Amino acid sequence: MDNVPVIHIVARSTNGVIGKEGQLPWHLPKDLKFFKEKTMGHSMVMGRKTFEAFPSPLKGRMHLVVSKKVSPESLPENVKYFNSIQEAIDWAKENDNLVYVIGGGEIFNQTIDIATDLLITEVETIADGDVFYPSINLDRWELMQSEPQSADEKHPFNFAFNHYKRK
Ligand SMILES: NC(=O)c1ccc[n+]([C@@H]2O[C@H](COP(=O)([O-])OP(=O)(O)OC[C@H]3O[C@@H](n4cnc5c(N)ncnc54)[C@H](OP(=O)(O)O)[C@@H]3O)[C@@H](O)[C@H]2O)c1
Repeated sequence: MDNVPVIHIVARSTNGVIGKEGQLPWHLPKDLKFFKEKTMGHSMVMGRKTFEAFPSPLKGRMHLVVSKKVSPESLPENVKYFNSIQEAIDWAKENDNLVYVIGGGEIFNQTIDIATDLLITEVETIADGDVFYPSINLDRWELMQSEPQSADEKHPFNFAFNHYKRK
């Protein structure tokens, strides 16, 4: 169980912004596709606010929602509530071969020290927002892969899919 990777998957701007007024600060269809491909069939640990930003639970993935509040009484079969991040991660490790941590800011901040991999979509813009990804020390993370993507009519910014692994 201790060998199970804990993977942050996040899109952040050059100035570290990941959220604005409860939503993503941008619409990048290729990034949504990347997120879907990576997380499909897996468990996703998330904060209650990130969960509530989805119009409905995402198909084909288990939502492990962290909240100090009492869990709602009836939940879809692919949603579970946990009172602590550790309980959610432990459940995922017991039931999956990897754990995706999908945010938001509070959950990324509290799990950056236990993450083994970071899948960061680096969005080349200075964004206006109210939720930030923690700054990462590049002495501790090795960039394994970078796939640059050019802006086009559907994507207002250049961005890159970067995979960092803990050294
Ligand atoms: N760009 C991206 O890749 C990305 C990814 C995800 C989210 N986001 C954005 O990030 C924003 C949301 O982030 P956020 O930081 O405001 O909220 P969040 O991390 O999604 O959720 C915060 C909530 O999680 C629960 N929580 C946090 N720490 C906990 C702990 N140790 N134990 C138990 N429960 C805990 C609390 O829920 P209760 O209040 O219920 O106790 C807290 O209010 C949105 O704008 C969203 O769109 C961006």
